[in-house]
Amino acid sequence: MTKNWTPSSWQAYPAVQQPEWPDENDLQHALKQIASFPPLVFAGEARSLQAALAKVATGNAFLLQAGDCAESFEEFTAVNIREKLRVILQMAVMLTYSLGVPVVKVGRIAGQFAKPRSNNTETIGTQELPVFRGHMVNDPSPLVASRTPDPARLVQAYHQAASTLNLLRAFTKGGFADLNRVHAWNQEFVASSAEGQRYEQVATEVERALAFMRACGIDTETNSALHQVDVFTSHEALILGYEEALTRQDSLTGQWYDCSAHMLWIGERTRQLDGAHVEFLRGVGNPIGCKIGKTTTTDYVIELCEKLNPARIPGRLTLISRMGANDVESALRPLIRAVRDAGHPVVWACDPMHGNTFTAPNGRKTRDFKDIVSEITGFVKAHRAEGTWPGGIHVELTGENVTECLGGSEKLGNDDLDTRYETVCDPRLNARQSLDLAFQISELIRH
Ligand code: PEP
Ligand code: CO
Repeated sequence: MTKNWTPSSWQAYPAVQQPEWPDENDLQHALKQIASFPPLVFAGEARSLQAALAKVATGNAFLLQAGDCAESFEEFTAVNIREKLRVILQMAVMLTYSLGVPVVKVGRIAGQFAKPRSNNTETIGTQELPVFRGHMVNDPSPLVASRTPDPARLVQAYHQAASTLNLLRAFTKGGFADLNRVHAWNQEFVASSAEGQRYEQVATEVERALAFMRACGIDTETNSALHQVDVFTSHEALILGYEEALTRQDSLTGQWYDCSAHMLWIGERTRQLDGAHVEFLRGVGNPIGCKIGKTTTTDYVIELCEKLNPARIPGRLTLISRMGANDVESALRPLIRAVRDAGHPVVWACDPMHGNTFTAPNGRKTRDFKDIVSEITGFVKAHRAEGTWPGGIHVELTGENVTECLGGSEKLGNDDLDTRYETVCDPRLNARQSLDLAFQISELIRH
């Protein structure tokens, strides 16, 4: 058990990025309700994910963490969940096939509802409004009433996470994710594109491999690994009251787990060593992550590892670098070296999104596909140079045909951004760009 830690010990530490809830009683009422609800995940599942991530830490698996920047209360449909899962499965197949190692699939899904923001307020027209902090907190429409944090949204987030997870479990265990359907995952609007064609080739190879196995006498009908997949859930553990309310003691081990998701991470803005977020996550048994930006120092990263993973358990801690394409190689190498030399068994993942965001001439927040590829290239190079494993990627994507990130083989330009810009927060890769990325990563890591 972690020393001097309880699910509420974070409350004695400074907690940045917390909403200003207008009524403390309403907040406590919502949190009490959530604390009485069933957990969303089971501690044993979090341990399975940790075991899978331990393989990533030793270079024997690859982490694909992907999904929305912010899930939406409005875009809450079976189609939306299915399309996201579909593109994650497609990417995973391409990566598994080309890298020859298991791909650990973790969605930014079923709980990714809260956003850290650079400013507490924004000015729209002449009005200064509280900033939008994710659907778990408030609504983005530019009215004071919409922007006022509402604790009932915490309860709604719990329920949406529960039904999203329910559908994910149904899809991943009930036949949708069956490898025999590998061709069917290709959506029509993708299938005719260059990326879709490349995917088709891999899918055909997979089919051929399955036929080969059958011909050799291997029973592919009964082997569940071919018919089911594990897709784990994750989100940024930002709103600590919500996370505390879902933190439960595992009856098997006595360990505390944050049962709001399998994996939780700490964001770039909340990773203060003496802050509430680090305090909270150091005590839960789940595998955890922490974002690290380009200003991260070696002293900091070592202290972070000591705090979050003092027992040096492989798979427990994932460091997610988000440094920007220009800085990643030089900023990351000393950190990799320090962590390696200190003997900390971390998973290294690359978030190529958050260090490459800029505002397009039309005012849209965007990212360029080539910068995203370029950051991953720098990340892989840094690991190659230090003799460590570029363990995975952490990306924001959707299965829909949106136009939020520039470039890719469709060559989306500034003028295209308005066509289908639907994100409630950061710009996401669309289905084609996501497949293209999986292909490019395969090439980068294989060579
Ligand atoms: C995010 O992952 O959506 C995010 C806000 O990232 P970061 O904390 O790295 O800025
Ligand atoms: Co984001």
